[in-house]
Amino acid sequence: MGARVAVLASGTGSNLQALLDDDVVGPAIGLVVSDRAEAKALDRARSAGIEAVHLDPKAHESREAHDRALVDLLQDRGIELVCLAGYMRILSPGFVRAFWGKTLNVHPALLPAFPGVHAVREALSWGVKLTGCTVHVVDEEVDHGPILAQEAVPVLDDDDEASLHARIQEAEHRLYPLVVRRMIEGRVRLDGRRVIVEEER
Ligand code: GRF
Repeated sequence: MGARVAVLASGTGSNLQALLDDDVVGPAIGLVVSDRAEAKALDRARSAGIEAVHLDPKAHESREAHDRALVDLLQDRGIELVCLAGYMRILSPGFVRAFWGKTLNVHPALLPAFPGVHAVREALSWGVKLTGCTVHVVDEEVDHGPILAQEAVPVLDDDDEASLHARIQEAEHRLYPLVVRRMIEGRVRLDGRRVIVEEER
């Protein structure tokens, strides 16, 4: 049952861990790929007995060539669903086409507010009282595709970037497994930018 899942991560991999710890999602994860050899996410995968691959961007002359190698690897392993979890590279249009509607990302803000790599810092300095996290389908623009789910997180008066990001990550760790579970169970339908989730049977 369900799709075979790959997780792409560049860093700590706390979201990867939340996915691994989910009863439905964890067993479906067949591969973890990182662009950084020292990513802790690769260690988490190995500890869970899952294939962990470092794909070095310097090994290819272009982003497109690197992403072609990535698509080849994912297809070779029979991957049907790709979860970005702190993956710090922008995927090329070729990758997005190869896994259209089947690549998800988690972003630490309520999109379309604060896209990009400094989402938490920017929300804090803008002075918003509520921010949060978004799980969305990846399209060819950064932090832009159809929104699958969001969870709001309050900004407290004494927050700094680290404390706010930590609170947002707690929400991410709840939300991301939930959404991936729905995808695996085939309960998510895209209608343009709108996403319809069917009830659990
Ligand atoms: C998360 O906060 C996610 O929203 C962002 O990168 C961070 C990755 O954290 N895209 P981790 O590696 O999952 O701990």
